[in-house]
Amino acid sequence: MTNPTIRFLLDDNGASLAEDVLSGLSRQPKAIPSKWFYDDRGSELFEEITSLPEYYVTRKEEEILLQRSPEIAQLSKAAELVELGAGNSEKTRALLDALSVPNNGSRLERFVLFDVSEDAVRQTAAALTTQYPQLAIEGIVGDFDHHLDEIDHSYRCLFIFLGGTIGNLNPAEREDFLTDVAFSMKPGDTFLLGTDLVKSPEHLHAAYNDAQGITADFNLNILKVINRELDANFKLDQFQHVAFWDAENSWIEMRLKSLCDQEVLIGSLNLDVSFGTGEEMRTEISTKFLSDQVASELNQAGLKVLKRWTDSERFFQLTLAQAVC
Ligand code: SAH
Ligand code: TRP
Repeated sequence: MTNPTIRFLLDDNGASLAEDVLSGLSRQPKAIPSKWFYDDRGSELFEEITSLPEYYVTRKEEEILLQRSPEIAQLSKAAELVELGAGNSEKTRALLDALSVPNNGSRLERFVLFDVSEDAVRQTAAALTTQYPQLAIEGIVGDFDHHLDEIDHSYRCLFIFLGGTIGNLNPAEREDFLTDVAFSMKPGDTFLLGTDLVKSPEHLHAAYNDAQGITADFNLNILKVINRELDANFKLDQFQHVAFWDAENSWIEMRLKSLCDQEVLIGSLNLDVSFGTGEEMRTEISTKFLSDQVASELNQAGLKVLKRWTDSERFFQLTLAQAVC
């Protein structure tokens, strides 16, 4: 068999982007789902975000993973690792290394990386195949809102979902997601979840409003994706990045604000959309959690918490859970 194998589960013709843009721009207030940020350029910009001084998320999670991966490997006893929303799987290397050490006669055999970004999947799968030639590697280009049931695994499996990406789902989507993950798990399988924690509004605000404006470029990139894929004519200099802490919902909300009265044509949809001066369209939420809330949401989905770890500043948390059967 070739290594890596790549499986493509998305509609080839951009149908789901078209559906999301049509429904999102037809309602009030307007919104676009954040999965469409991550084209080639979007994934690149996100990587730049991860090394910004203000964006603590990636560094804090990496601190925990570097320290705790051997323990996570011991507890999970996994021979297969499935990463959802993998991106470049950079931090995952600590886990790949720890799981590759033989443990009671078993060790990691297979790594599956799943992401909506085809470029990310192809590049990451290729890089890891070179670095971990002993592993069978499968890249899946899919949408975790729809395709979790297409992931098959044969060994005892550790599912991981890092980066605080679960916070980008709203409460109803989060519940569906966790239930789907629990449903995909067999007895003995485990799930490692990375969640960003509630902290001072100053830290949170800075992380999503960096001084260099990379986050702003990332937010605006979603308009470029729509221009290219759906033949639209958004003028990027007529929209502005907005990110603010919504304490009531416990999330950072990202929006794009229209700087003038304007009409935008979405060519492939034959749709004319008007924006008023100052009108804001939602592009992303990034929920920040309390530790016990994570445990209770996992429980509700039928998953039992085995252990949780935080970094030295208690900024971020990893939670390991097991299917209850
Ligand atoms: N896990 C990496 C990347 C986090 S960024 C890290 O911790 O640094 C979020 C990732 O989730 C991106 O790679 C993005 O392409 C992917 N993603 C977002 N929505 C998705 C969806 N609906 N289905 C699959 N992947 C998705
Ligand atoms: N999962 C990341 C987060 O919630 C995604 C992200 C980081 C993001 N910075 C962003 C999304 C800026 C949109 C805009 O932290």
